[in-house]
Amino acid sequence: MVVSSAPGKVYLFGEHAVVYGEPAVPCAIELRARVAVEERDDDRLRVHAEDLSLDGFTVEYSRETDMGPDVNVADSLVEAAMGYVDAAVAQARDAADAPDAGFDITIESEIPLGAGLGSSAAVTAAGIDAATRELGVELSTEEIADRAYRAESEVQDGEASRADTFCSASGGAVRVEGDDCRTISAPDLPFVIGFDGGAGDTGKLVSGVRALREEYDFAADTVASIGDLVRSGEDALAEGNVEELGRLMNFNHGLLEALGVSSRSLDNMVWAARDADALGAKLTGAGGGGCIVALDPSKATETALKFTPGCEDAFRAKLDTDGVRVEEA
Ligand code: PMV
Repeated sequence: MVVSSAPGKVYLFGEHAVVYGEPAVPCAIELRARVAVEERDDDRLRVHAEDLSLDGFTVEYSRETDMGPDVNVADSLVEAAMGYVDAAVAQARDAADAPDAGFDITIESEIPLGAGLGSSAAVTAAGIDAATRELGVELSTEEIADRAYRAESEVQDGEASRADTFCSASGGAVRVEGDDCRTISAPDLPFVIGFDGGAGDTGKLVSGVRALREEYDFAADTVASIGDLVRSGEDALAEGNVEELGRLMNFNHGLLEALGVSSRSLDNMVWAARDADALGAKLTGAGGGGCIVALDPSKATETALKFTPGCEDAFRAKLDTDGVRVEEA
């Protein structure tokens, strides 16, 4: 059996615009998904998942039959989670040239599902790493990132950038612009995360921005402005200017709000953070619900968020410089 883990992430800047070739800067955080993989002596898959923001569920199926899971959670969530596991297994079978390999897979994740913290990328990257190692093949970080991207794109009908998967595979702060992905240096950033308990539909939100961008030139300009903002943000990161990063995060939230991907609960949490004198705050990920990220070295934002209606959970998160890694082999 091999156990691998990979981190979740927040977007310091650039979600949505990254889909149209603008740069984005996601940062890995110390919340991890762990995937244990054991090869079976048949070609079936048995998947047990825990803590994926839904009751633990177990699904057993082989590739020939419909999965027909007998579980008591919303089908759409199970299907979403299983889609990533399936795609990760397909990548691992391909990488190890073992098309008939079957596995028992156990997933444990500290990352809330679909909340903008990169849970699917973390499960996919850790799953590919653990399954290939179990088959005796060791992939480079770049190859895991690339295969995790291909798996995510397949599940999301091509509506995925390389940002989430590259960040989860490599860890740290990264810069992604089209196919150009690299890690960049960053100061220790005082992240505070607020979670509204909900989730956004990434596919729908991405299509909404695409439609706006096609309808209005000023929406296309807004997307391009996010790209300009990210380039300024990179300078602030290189200088370690955390105050400037905060101002730019506030600006980035305003542009995302204009593109229609915020929500009342996300806006409430952003304003609670600003009222608590956070250096900056914005939604993170696709939006529509889920998480905000703020920068605040003091305790004020975390405390304010805990008292904000609609905020289910608030916590501090540290930048994680480790990407995908083996926990047990
Ligand atoms: O909510 P998440 O973690 O799936 O992030 C989505 C980020 C988008 O830029 C909206 C889409 C993408 O694939 O980059």
